[in-house]
Amino acid sequence: MPWRLRRSVLACPGSNPRMMEKAAASAADEVFLDLEDACAPMEKPAARGRIVEALRSHDWQGKVRVVRINQVGSRFALDDIREVVSGAGDVLDCVMVPKVQNAGDIAFVDRALGSLEQGLGLEVGRIGIEAQVEDAQGLTNAEQIASASPRLETITYGPADFSAAMHFPNLTVANSYSYPGDIFHYVLFKLAVAARAAGIQVVDGPYLAIRDIEGFRDAAGRSAALGYDGKWVLHPGQIEACNEVFTPSQTDFDKAVQILAAYRHATEVEGRGAVMLGDEMIDEASRKMAVQFEARGRAAGLTPSSRDATAEAVAGV
Ligand code: GLV
Ligand code: MG
Repeated sequence: MPWRLRRSVLACPGSNPRMMEKAAASAADEVFLDLEDACAPMEKPAARGRIVEALRSHDWQGKVRVVRINQVGSRFALDDIREVVSGAGDVLDCVMVPKVQNAGDIAFVDRALGSLEQGLGLEVGRIGIEAQVEDAQGLTNAEQIASASPRLETITYGPADFSAAMHFPNLTVANSYSYPGDIFHYVLFKLAVAARAAGIQVVDGPYLAIRDIEGFRDAAGRSAALGYDGKWVLHPGQIEACNEVFTPSQTDFDKAVQILAAYRHATEVEGRGAVMLGDEMIDEASRKMAVQFEARGRAAGLTPSSRDATAEAVAGV
């Protein structure tokens, strides 16, 4: 499955044409058009058509285009998939599946997509799946969910539904708990491990206090520290902070480029496997860490600030 830039994932109600138009023009890396919780039950049938229209008519400027369907087993899910894929399957990158509880939920969506793709003459297997884990069953089965289909591109956390499912005494997903430490740490870590074991991406969910940008940064920083690829944004005001948190700093990016150059020189020219770079010993594991930074930085558009990173790195060995 393709590895896509997903630092900021903008949620947008599928019932609101104006918001979808604005979302297409935003600076988010991904937009998902929502048929689930941001769409009232009486609006859902009409929203399917509005989503098809929005996907077809706007310029999405290279964003990842996703539609969140309703939970598998609900009265809406099958028609959500059928209408959206029939109308816009060729311009849709992924279907997001909320409240995934086991591999069977993913198998259902996988097969439904396969049937529609065949019937519509679309490339079979191109439309990906993002699996949202947001309750105790989903978390318990995270590993099987993450590897349930070759279409899977992300595991995505749903902290609001998870808080409700766990009976947390919270009325928001801001960082205002009396719990000592980060109440979501275990969940975020477990989902990240499940996603990486399956070789897919991992995305953190929403931060509801949309005017509290510092609180947002703090929450995003914690998932970024666990290796997350990105986080949801509920409002355009959160996008800039989100993209920044999930992009390596220029200093870290330059250091990664230097490590790669120095290590290449040490192993390929000097025949050494471990060398000093400045005050640090670098070896094959350092190279692997640096590769991550470099890839993330380049995907986000960074370039080395010095043209001669190799010479600098080699001089520093
Ligand atoms: C998102 O869907 C959440 O429940 O947090
Ligand atoms: Mg949810």
